[in-house]
Amino acid sequence: MSRLDMTGRVAVVTAGAGGIGEGAAMALAALGADIAIGDIDEANGARVVAAVQALGRKALFRPANAMDADQQRALVAAAAQEFGRIDILVNNAGGVKHRNFASQTERNWQNILNLNLISMLAATQSAAEVMKAGGRGGAIVNVSSTEGLRAAPGFSVYAACKAAMISFTKTMALELGPDGIRVNCIAPDLIITPGLAELIDGSGENMSDQARYTPLGRSAKMEEAGDVIAFLASDMASWVTGATLPVDGGCTAAAGWHIGETSGEWALYKA
Ligand SMILES: NC(=O)c1ccc[n+]([C@@H]2O[C@H](COP(=O)([O-])OP(=O)(O)OC[C@H]3O[C@@H](n4cnc5c(N)ncnc54)[C@H](O)[C@@H]3O)[C@@H](O)[C@H]2O)c1
Repeated sequence: MSRLDMTGRVAVVTAGAGGIGEGAAMALAALGADIAIGDIDEANGARVVAAVQALGRKALFRPANAMDADQQRALVAAAAQEFGRIDILVNNAGGVKHRNFASQTERNWQNILNLNLISMLAATQSAAEVMKAGGRGGAIVNVSSTEGLRAAPGFSVYAACKAAMISFTKTMALELGPDGIRVNCIAPDLIITPGLAELIDGSGENMSDQARYTPLGRSAKMEEAGDVIAFLASDMASWVTGATLPVDGGCTAAAGWHIGETSGEWALYKA
């Protein structure tokens, strides 16, 4: 049997009705997992459930605002009750709008903290409890960002949350490791999703500008993030825990090096 096979396993994906969450749900289902999705978008939740079922897997959708700890706990409880176990949790909820810190209100930063950091705490605690009770171990994959690895003007609190997510991943890997629960993180960039499209439109840039900063010279489909999440959740990654994997076409490696607009060569400071 392939070590990618997930037949009989159950995955919970937060914010799974679109973007990277949808990519993760579909990649996990393609490998055999049954899927529970939480999201605030019921119409797209139903669409993803139908797509998972079309692959022959079981699926459920539960309206769940990631900013509400009780709703995250209820999502995990619904998955455990419906499917009888939980093997995988993908903490995917997150997002941000550009705004310099000087003009942020307390309400702004509280919302960013709730969506990008607090959101994963209740889900992690409840899912880990179900995994431990099942005695079969499990895998948690957190969706951070390249912004958690570098400075991010206009995204200060978001970037701080994403860095905290990387730290939380490491500590959870240690606390949950003895129960056979692996905890890893991805740091994506330039994955084409509704959220990224809104951000880039709002910034006045476009995808081809962005591509100059990517060694692979393009942006990526949501499936390319979903597949890496599925790999980290699979037994193929059985010796990987506490790790953060950039899924960014090489942006993290480039660290500012980019193809100069006029020279067409790799450049650091010149355009
Ligand atoms: N797209 C990228 O290139 C990129 C880069 C870095 C990090 N990320 C991270 O990846 C994750 C997913 O990003 P994306 O671009 O797919 O997002 P997206 O904005 O395209 O949205 C994905 C889903 O989140 C849902 N959602 C929004 N607010 C929610 C809430 N409060 N509760 C529950 N669901 C909610 C939406 O309904 C949608 O279905 C986020 O954590 C984001 O920070 C994405």
